[in-house]
Amino acid sequence: MKKKGIGVLVFAIVAFAGGSYWADGQAAAGDGIQVVMYQNPACGCCGEWVKHMQANGFEVEVHKHDVNVNDIKRQENITPEIASCHTAYIEGYLVEGHVPARDIKRLLAERPTDIRGLAVPGMISGSPGMEQPDGHVERYDVVAFDANNNTSVYASY
Ligand code: CU
Ligand code: CU
Repeated sequence: MKKKGIGVLVFAIVAFAGGSYWADGQAAAGDGIQVVMYQNPACGCCGEWVKHMQANGFEVEVHKHDVNVNDIKRQENITPEIASCHTAYIEGYLVEGHVPARDIKRLLAERPTDIRGLAVPGMISGSPGMEQPDGHVERYDVVAFDANNNTSVYASY
């Protein structure tokens, strides 16, 4: 009994440490960082984005049923020009839609004070969580948006 307990503990430690080396080949900037995310319960691609974030070391708290994501969008003045399927809060920033984890890590490293968050407006084929079976990737921009929803290009794919 005792031996098994230690085995489980060792496994847990290794699994936890292993998380630092996952995905993207970047520094473990996402590790343990809390993401609070709101989505429509019927949305499948939202769950795929959650997996992408988890694989990059983020911890994601998903709200599907307790809060209506459209209420969050209204509350945060997420206009149709920047809106996508899900809305997330990360360290005081908003993340709207299928934003790649690497751009969120850069955001958290740079911590700009003049923007509210990042968005990938709409639903872009090939963005994280929207990978296509044929590998097709649509060209898209990650945009930063400020308090007045003015946007600027943050990254291009
Ligand atoms: Cu989506
Ligand atoms: Cu989504």
